[in-house]
Amino acid sequence: MTETASRRTLHITTWGCQMNVYDSGRMADVLRPLGYQQVATQDADMVILNTCHIRERASEKLFSELGRLRALKESRGGAMMIAVAGCVAQAEGAEILARAPHVDLVVGSQAYHRLPELIAEIEQKRRAVIDTDFPAAQKFDLLPEDQASQGPIAFLAIQEGCDKFCTFCVVPYTRGAEASRPAAAILAEARRLVAGGAREIALLGQNVNAWHGEAPDGSTWPLARLLAELADIDGLARLRYTTSHPRDMDAALIAAHRDNPKLMPFLHLPVQSGSDAVLARMNRRHGADLFRRIAGELRAARPDIALSSDFIVGFPGETDADFAATMRLVRETGFALAYSFKYSRRPGTPAADAADQIDEAVKDARLQELQAVLRDQQHEFNRAQVGRSFEVLFTGSGRHPGQSAGRSPYLQPVVVDDADIAPGTLRTVKIVQSNPNSLMASLTQEQIAA
Ligand code: 5AD
Ligand code: SF4
Repeated sequence: MTETASRRTLHITTWGCQMNVYDSGRMADVLRPLGYQQVATQDADMVILNTCHIRERASEKLFSELGRLRALKESRGGAMMIAVAGCVAQAEGAEILARAPHVDLVVGSQAYHRLPELIAEIEQKRRAVIDTDFPAAQKFDLLPEDQASQGPIAFLAIQEGCDKFCTFCVVPYTRGAEASRPAAAILAEARRLVAGGAREIALLGQNVNAWHGEAPDGSTWPLARLLAELADIDGLARLRYTTSHPRDMDAALIAAHRDNPKLMPFLHLPVQSGSDAVLARMNRRHGADLFRRIAGELRAARPDIALSSDFIVGFPGETDADFAATMRLVRETGFALAYSFKYSRRPGTPAADAADQIDEAVKDARLQELQAVLRDQQHEFNRAQVGRSFEVLFTGSGRHPGQSAGRSPYLQPVVVDDADIAPGTLRTVKIVQSNPNSLMASLTQEQIAA
C-alpha cells in the first residue's frame, strides 16, 4: 500500500468501444503507482472522460458532461483535475480547451503512457496541457506491465489503428495508421493475464485480423500463428479476436477456426451493407459475395460457428434496391448478434461531403426494418440453444440470490441456480430456457464430445 498522504482519487468515465474500455483500464494502471485509486465521480480528485467519436452527438455528450463537472469543480474551489481522453480528444483537441476552459488536460489515445508527466506539468506550471501526438513507438508497449486483474474474461490489445479508410469512418484519423504489437510482448501480457486469473482472452484491435506482428525470430507472423501460440498457454481456455475486416480473413485464419480448439465458435465480422454499389462507395474494397464466401468457409471449417456483424443504413446514395440487398444478405446469412446504425456524417471523412445524403425519415424506417429481422434472428439463435450442452465460463453471481452467471461460447450470458461456482470455473451446462438476452441452464456431469 502507498502512504495515505499520497493517496489520490480518480474516476474514469468510458464511452465507446471495447478498445476504450481496455485503454481506461491501462490509464488506471499508469496512474496507480502515483497513488490514484478509483472512486465515484463526486469523490474524485481527477476525472478522465474517455470519449468516442464514431457516431454523432459525441461532442454534445462530452460538453454536457463537462458542464456537469464544471459545477462540481467550482463547488470545490477549483481543486479538481479534469482530463479528456480518447477519440474526441484526438480529433478536437484545441477546440475542447477553447470551449471548456475548466478542462486541465486533453490527451489523445496514443499518449496515455505519458499521463504522469502531463499531470506533473499541469501541477507545476498551473496551466492546461494538450498532447495529441502520434508517437512512432507502440503505446501499449510503453504502458506498465503491472495490470489490475480483469477477472476471468480479459481483453488484450494487439493492434491499433487502421489503414482501410472506409469513407464513413473516423478511426484512421483518430487512431492513426495500422500498427501491430510484437508477438513476444503479446504472449508475455497474455501469460500475466492468465497468472492474474484470466481463463478467456479477447484480442482487441480496430482491425484485429490485419495483425501481422514481429515474431521472436524476427519473421512476421499472421494472426492464425499468434492464436496457435496463445493456445499453448496453460490455464488459458478460450480465445477470441475482435473486430475484423472481411478482406483480412485469410485462409490460415479460417483454418484456425477448425484447428485451434481454444478459439471460440463465434466471430464478429462487420459487413456494413449487402449492396456492392454501396460497399464500393464505402471503399470497403470487397463485394457482398466475398462475405458470403467467407461465411460459407467458416461454417465448413467450424460447423457450430455463429456470426455477428455491423450494418450501416442510409449511407449516401443508398437506394431501396441497395437496402433490399442488405436485407437479403441478412436473411441468407443468419446472425446470432448484430449492431446496426444509421449513417452519421463525420466531419473530415469523404462520405460526409457526398451530395446524396439520405433523409432521416428514410434512415429511421430502414433501421427499424433491419433491426426487427436482426432481433428475430438473435432470439431464434438463443432459442436454438435450448437442449444443447456446452461449457460456460463462470464470472460471478447472477442477478438473483442463489445464482451464478457466466458466458457461453457465443458470449451469451448464462445463468444457473447454483451459488457455489467460483469465478473462473468452466462447467458443462445444459440450456433449459432462452430469454431474448440470456440463457438459463442447469449443471450437468455429461462429457461433451470434442
Ligand atoms: N455512421 C454510422 N455508423 C458508423 N460506424 C462507423 N462509422 C460510422 C458512421 N459514420 C459503425 C460501423 C462500424 C461500427 C464500429 O460503427 O458499422 O463497424
Ligand atoms: Fe473504420 Fe473499420 Fe473501415 Fe478501418 S476498416 S476505416 S476501423 S470501418
